[in-house]
Amino acid sequence: MINFVLSLFKMFLTDQIQAPIASEMKKFEDYFRTSLKSSIPLLDIIMNYILRRKGKQMRPMFVILSAKLIGEVNNSTYVAAALIELLHTATLIHDDVVDEAYERRGFFSINALWKSKISVLVGDYLLSKGLLLAIDNNENELLKIVSVAVREMSEGELLQIEKSRKLDISEEQYFDIIRKKTATLIASCTAGGALSAGANELTVSRMRLFGEYTGIAFQIKDDIFDYQSNGLIGKPTGNDIKEKKITLPLIYALRNASDSDRRHILRIVKNSNHNSVKVREVIDYVVSNKGIEYASVKMDEYKYKAIALLGDFPENDAKKSLIDLVNYSTTRKS
Ligand code: IPE
Ligand code: IPE
Ligand code: MG
Ligand code: MG
Repeated sequence: MINFVLSLFKMFLTDQIQAPIASEMKKFEDYFRTSLKSSIPLLDIIMNYILRRKGKQMRPMFVILSAKLIGEVNNSTYVAAALIELLHTATLIHDDVVDEAYERRGFFSINALWKSKISVLVGDYLLSKGLLLAIDNNENELLKIVSVAVREMSEGELLQIEKSRKLDISEEQYFDIIRKKTATLIASCTAGGALSAGANELTVSRMRLFGEYTGIAFQIKDDIFDYQSNGLIGKPTGNDIKEKKITLPLIYALRNASDSDRRHILRIVKNSNHNSVKVREVIDYVVSNKGIEYASVKMDEYKYKAIALLGDFPENDAKKSLIDLVNYSTTRKS
């Protein structure tokens, strides 16, 4: 049932935004599939599992549409799209180990099925496959962009762990973390896509910033999801508190809380984070203290800042689809 609903949402996305780039997405998928091939039987089984459980594929869409905004989609565009989706898949596999999450894309995560050891190695394998794809195609500039993203993503995840130990995160630090762990990869989609179509330096950096703002809005949406347990997003909810991740809705609610409320909520996050009833109490507290509303306002601010950056580009189908994709990032249901 969940899978059926998930695929309905994905179909909606396909119709609305993917249709104008359907042939490019098909070509990307061929690239992606080929780059996952392995002669080691266990790896091959896992790669097939990954291919069957594909996600929304928003990152390749950002790459292709950013290329189209500038000029022609070409081989470099597909290399960028495949490299970034490989990397994204690798980070999700590692992330589910770190977060001890057993559900992903509406089904079991890799660590739920094959345990942490294999998940860590498979994530590394995907990363190396992506890097080799870029090297084999002499995509040096792209490698530079993406390697910065890889470094920042690791920094973001580590910063997040540090903050979940101390539980003293400020709004500014939260934005720093999500910019690093999520937005930087989406920024490399839009920068890499534009670069592949021959954009100049100034345009590439504008597109980079466009992707960064979009990515920040995208992660705020993801963090809001964690407070909305409708069971339809294909991954666990309430998991952030279990992992002691204090995200924007809770940061806001705590900022306006009385000293005793703040102490009480933080004590739950610290000591009762695996007690579902207590976690529910934190979620309810955040919801009734307007944490979701505040996060939504911030999310929309970044969304509008992103769209504004496209202002100077000529009106065409690619621009329209990019704006649709940004809007989808903040209204999506999974
Ligand atoms: C999930 O990204 C990880 C985050 C950065 C929040 P997506 O929501 O794009 O994941 P898939 O690829 O569609 O599963
Ligand atoms: C995004 O953070 C992590 C990555 C950059 C991979 P989350 O831990 O919130 O992502 P989900 O919710 O598990 O997809
Ligand atoms: Mg996670
Ligand atoms: Mg999340």
